[in-house]
Amino acid sequence: MGFSPDWLALREPHDLKARDSHLATLAAQSATADPVVLDLGCGAGSTIRALRPYLPENTKWRLVDNDPVLLSLAKNEAGFDTEAFLLDLGEIDSLPLEGVTLVTGSALLDLVSRKWLEDLAALLEVPAYFALSYDGQMSWQPESELDREVTAAFNAHQRSDKGFGPALGPDAASTASEIFSALGFEVSLARSPWQLLSEDKALHDELIAGIAQAAIEAGAPDAKSWAEAKLSAEFSTCVIGHADILALPGSTLLGSSDAQY
Ligand SMILES: C[S@@+](CC[C@H](N)C(=O)[O-])C[C@H]1O[C@@H](n2cnc3c(N)ncnc32)[C@H](O)[C@@H]1O
Repeated sequence: MGFSPDWLALREPHDLKARDSHLATLAAQSATADPVVLDLGCGAGSTIRALRPYLPENTKWRLVDNDPVLLSLAKNEAGFDTEAFLLDLGEIDSLPLEGVTLVTGSALLDLVSRKWLEDLAALLEVPAYFALSYDGQMSWQPESELDREVTAAFNAHQRSDKGFGPALGPDAASTASEIFSALGFEVSLARSPWQLLSEDKALHDELIAGIAQAAIEAGAPDAKSWAEAKLSAEFSTCVIGHADILALPGSTLLGSSDAQY
């Protein structure tokens, strides 16, 4: 499955706006005064740009992706004190975890399987912070009688294998919460929805095309007319649900978290 630099660049400003800033602050604080941050599925470096305002200048990045073009874009972004690893995340034992003080990722957990996340979580003794996992909720204005059917088909497609076994899709954040809590981590969840208005037409239109294609593949042929109607409507806005999660091991000392989901 490929993620083009153009698509990642199109979504990045919306991801930045949507990411819960309170959880981002706590995540950065949890990374210690000398952070070594491992960014899993780093793409073109969106997480570096998102977390930079919260982290000290001496932060060292370890970047992992299996797409060499994206990885090199991210490495250029992070600066000279960065290590980049062209790796398949499926090879969990190869992840460069030693010395890491924070494990992070964005728009990643909905792609992975429960087994992958359980295996990763079992290896972690440091905070884990995953932002912007799709949560299965979409709402559209104006509404269409096909919204529900298309959302259900899209969500079914989100659960198909994205290279890690059956994907968590819309259950990503809730499953992550369950897994990390069972291991004794203190878990905080926050909503991070995209709120797309008329001026966000570029992402809106790409999103609709992608949703329709996935929904058709998942057995909802009506998604074609659903997309045509939304793309030609005088106005169409939407809220696409995402969630952020921060899991702190018992040993992490932070001020109390009041993040709620
Ligand atoms: C939705 S993109 C998110 C990228 C970036 N974190 C962001 O928020 O813009 C998912 C990223 O995970 C990477 N990825 C997906 N499957 C992977 C795998 N098996 N091993 C390594 N990277 C993978 C993709 O190449 C892509 O960069």
